[in-house]
Order: sequence, then C-alpha cells, then structure tokens
Amino acid sequence: MIEAKVGETKKEVFLAEPGEDATLACVPRNALRQPKGLATTDQVRRAYDVMSVDYDTGRDRSLYFRIIEAIEAKSIFENVSFACPVTVLEVGCGTGRFIELVSREAKSTVVGLDYSPRMLEVAAAKPYSTVRANIALVNGKAGALPFKNGSFDLVYSFKTLPHVQDTVKAVGEMARVAKRRGAVILEFYNSLSLSRLVRRFGFLTKWHTPAKAKRIAEGAGLTVKRVYGARTVIPAGLVCDVPFLSTALRRLECSISATRLAKLSGYYILACQKRR
Ligand SMILES: C[S@@+](CC[C@H](N)C(=O)[O-])C[C@H]1O[C@@H](n2cnc3c(N)ncnc32)[C@H](O)[C@@H]1O
Repeated sequence: MIEAKVGETKKEVFLAEPGEDATLACVPRNALRQPKGLATTDQVRRAYDVMSVDYDTGRDRSLYFRIIEAIEAKSIFENVSFACPVTVLEVGCGTGRFIELVSREAKSTVVGLDYSPRMLEVAAAKPYSTVRANIALVNGKAGALPFKNGSFDLVYSFKTLPHVQDTVKAVGEMARVAKRRGAVILEFYNSLSLSRLVRRFGFLTKWHTPAKAKRIAEGAGLTVKRVYGARTVIPAGLVCDVPFLSTALRRLECSISATRLAKLSGYYILACQKRR
C-alpha cells in the first residue's frame, strides 16, 4: 500500500507510523541530523515514494548528476562485455535511469528491483519499458532478493546501499544471485570524502570508508577488480551550474575517477567479480 500521495511535501514523509521513531519522523527533512540508527526500510520507501514525483526532473536538469551518472555508467561498461547476451539485475533501480541504458545493450533479461512502488511506477511508464520486452520491474527489498542463486551475469546498485539497513546482508544477496565469475558493481558513500565533510546533515544515509566497503565486498565472496570515484573535487552540486566551471569539473572528475584519488570521492564504486 502506498501512503505517500503525489503533491505531499517531502517533510510529511516522516510522519510516524505506530512503532516508528517519532523523533525522527516529525522533523523536517532539511533539519534531519544523521540519525544514530538508520531510518527504517519503510521510512526510506515512503521518502522515495514522495520523491518519485520529481526525481527525474531534478536529475535531468542537473549537470552535477550528469557527471555522477556518467562515471557510474563507465563502471558498468568498462567491466562488462555486452558482446554476448547478458542477464542483468539492478538493485534499487528507482525510476529506471540505468535500466534504459543497460537494456539497450544486454540482449537478454534486465530486471530492475526497488522497494518503492512509486519509483517503479515512474520506471514502468517510460517508453522504453513498454517497447523493450526484456525488461522486468520487481518490487522487493535489497536484503531479501527474490531470485535463485547464480541467476545474473551482472548485478549492480547505485546510490542504494547507503539506504539499506543491513549492508552486509544486501551485498551478500547481490553476490548470491550473481553467476560464478559474474560482475557485481557496488556503490557506497565514502566517509573519507569532501562531500561527507560538507554534508554534515545526511539524509537517511550510511557512510563507509573505502577499506570497510572493500571488506564487505570480499566478505561476500567478491574480488574487487577496479574502483571508481565520483564527486571527488566537486564541493557541492550547485557549483556544477556555474558556466565554464561545470565543463572543467566534468573533465577533472572523469579523468581522476579511476585513479587513486577515487579513495577520496563521495561516491565510491567497487567493480567486483564473484569468486565461486
Ligand atoms: C537514490 S535512489 C537511486 C535510484 C537509481 N539507482 C539511480 O541511481 O537513479 C535510491 C533507491 O533505492 C531504493 N531503496 C532504498 N532502500 C531499498 C531497499 N532496502 N531495497 C530496495 N530498494 C531500496 C529507493 O526506493 C530508491 O529508489
């Protein structure tokens, strides 16, 4: 059931339900200090149900997100060959921004899973979702993926693991459903980054050091092949809207995304391979 209605303001998403943390539930979004305990999965889901209304508009307009998404896409296309058919799962696919791109290349089934029904509705309404028969959109949780072991050649997740209650479990699930020697691409929010310093008031997010992220991946039976970083030098998203500066920042971010400086990036991406 979807409680959040189109047009509700974002702070109303935090209205408490019985048994939820009322302190967290009643404060407005912009005053939400990084909670001691992470918000519940249902609070996150309701927040994204509301955000689904303008999620794409905000990103389509933003040069900042174009830079981030270009680096995320690079982490897929540099590590997976689409020469043969590839079965794909995106965990936390949201409005399907990457499903569109990947389903064009995959020549096999592409599944987008998300816990927010409203985000999935936006994905389902996009023209490519109806045109391409190989796309399936599934409502489910990252911590309990409804797929058999070894189902996918590629499993990836962007900007979702930081919202998940049990990161170890979710990464374990992604590794479980990947085929042996399949690709698993994970994105974490880096606690050793400029963006962490600037974003003192996080929104429903968890932060990991690069070392911790690597340990989580390896503990799930994955070998880290490459790392990528996005938002390494960009201090705040709005800076990208300054003419000329945006071009320079895009070039700089893309050129350093796969270097050692990635360890200081806000978005830290691990391109892994399943070992067994
Ligand atoms: C910031 S959005 C990212 C969407 C998409 N990956 C992108 O890059 O545009 C995070 C998404 O994760 C989903 N999400 C959060 N927690 C989840 C969970 N436990 N299981 C599945 N999806 C979850 C949200 O509903 C939301 O659509």
